[in-house]
Amino acid sequence: MPKREKVLLVFDSAGTKAIDHDYKDELKTEEWQAESDVIRAIKRLGHECEMVGLHDDTEPLRQKLAEYQPDIIFNMVEAFANLSSAEQKITSYLELQGIPFTGCGSVGITLCKNKGISKKILGYHRIRVPAFAVFPVGRAIKRPARLNFPILVKPLEEEASYGISALSLVDTEKDFTERVQFVHEKFKQAAIAEEYIDGRELYVGLMGNQRLQVFPPTEMMFKEMPEDGPRFATFKAKWDWDYRERWGIENDFAKLEPEVARQIEKLCKRIYHLLLIDGYARLDLRLTPQNEIVFIEANPNPALTAYEDFALAAAKAGLNYTRLIDRILKLAKATVRS
Ligand SMILES: Nc1ncnc2c1ncn2[C@@H]1O[C@H](COP(=O)(O)OP(=O)(O)O)[C@@H](O)[C@H]1O
Ligand SMILES: [Mg+2]
Repeated sequence: MPKREKVLLVFDSAGTKAIDHDYKDELKTEEWQAESDVIRAIKRLGHECEMVGLHDDTEPLRQKLAEYQPDIIFNMVEAFANLSSAEQKITSYLELQGIPFTGCGSVGITLCKNKGISKKILGYHRIRVPAFAVFPVGRAIKRPARLNFPILVKPLEEEASYGISALSLVDTEKDFTERVQFVHEKFKQAAIAEEYIDGRELYVGLMGNQRLQVFPPTEMMFKEMPEDGPRFATFKAKWDWDYRERWGIENDFAKLEPEVARQIEKLCKRIYHLLLIDGYARLDLRLTPQNEIVFIEANPNPALTAYEDFALAAAKAGLNYTRLIDRILKLAKATVRS
């Protein structure tokens, strides 16, 4: 009989709530799908599960840890005080507790969250990344001559394609400056401008600490999108179901030549280790018409919604959802963090 663990699920809540707040109603909404899927799996595995939501105060977490004394923390935090760039601060706080927690440590999250730092590290190791430049808030916006149009402008530390629309892809000086300004004003953070990589859009899930399992790559396809339309993962392409239907945007397992698939697997394992990721992650790549693999972004602790790419890819590799959550919990216990 496997041990019955006390699991504490830590996640983002809309405001600071008391530690005995009942999240029953929130858990029924689509926005909370990932949390409710994870809780169901934890319970199915025979563990106990309690929850604590965080907004801009760590006090509920401190109280809950003292009261519940969990064996494992299931970390689903993606931001703090609405700042996506502050996610790693909560991970650092968890590290200080000396209790096993799921997913990636604070260093890996820090390296990946900043879309510039991850590219610098991988570029140093001669992994193909887009040419890029970072434009901090309050500094002059001047495009370096080495950065050629078309350019994709993004917030430096967001996720889920926040701030990415058809207007993010620019090919004039004026549009470029305006889009960088837009990112500064709307997201109150630096912008990263990247050389646009034309090609197929691939997502690769990986799991493990030292020894890694690579799940089959999935692909976002733009079946009805005209050649001059945005053939990249804008916010709408990811989350607007009507828009997806209109433009034939579908995610499915990628059909790849065996040699390309092997190269992708090898490269993804290298990237995962170089960016000090542990636990589980999803890498975003582009595959050019010349079969060149280009790194776009690494996502430690990707969304665990049962119907999204990461869980579907795990299932394809033979890990159904409950087993996936079981592996994530076991990896947490096996992680040695310094
Ligand atoms: N340099 C690039 N070249 C081509 N497409 C890109 C580039 N950067 C981002 N994209 C597109 O924008 C999407 C979102 O960018 P990404 O850096 O992954 O941000 P997020 O963290 O919001 O997912 C990518 O999945 C890809 O479709
Ligand atoms: Mg991404």
